[in-house]
Amino acid sequence: MALRKIVTLPDPILHRKARKVTGFDPDLQTLLDDMLETMRDAPGVGLAAPQVNVPLRAIVVEYGENDDEGQEVPPKLFIVVNPEITRFSKEMETGTEGCLSIPGYVGDVERSLSITVKGQNRHGQPLKIKANGWLARIFQHEVDHLDGVLFPDRAERVWRLDEQGAPEAEMAGD
Ligand code: NI
Repeated sequence: MALRKIVTLPDPILHRKARKVTGFDPDLQTLLDDMLETMRDAPGVGLAAPQVNVPLRAIVVEYGENDDEGQEVPPKLFIVVNPEITRFSKEMETGTEGCLSIPGYVGDVERSLSITVKGQNRHGQPLKIKANGWLARIFQHEVDHLDGVLFPDRAERVWRLDEQGAPEAEMAGD
């Protein structure tokens, strides 16, 4: 495994549609392992292949949500090749998102509260994931990356973080 460089704006790959994965070969296995290592190192809760400069439809997500008592649940890892969101709940929720490819900025984005993702695992076998809340948001954000869509494209407002992480100045969506 190796760390890969995370591409940031204004790199044009971030606005391109990624290609479907057709070969579940050793190169893909290396890519997925490297994406996982790079996401954990950043650290982040999700990463899409175009963010490491590979225009393929693959994402990694690792997230542990607190349970009802506020206890931290161990993070769960998802590796999804050719992900497709097949169901979006009508119920929406606004939340504040950031992106490893847009350091220093966050934005308020309205997303579906629950979704179903279909795709393939790293060996090409079909998988289906139902996600709610923040996990659903992460999947929507990562699948957007595969279509060249970034959170500012969907945000109601975007602003810059100062060094303390507090809102500093508002910026128009790019
Ligand atoms: Ni992102």
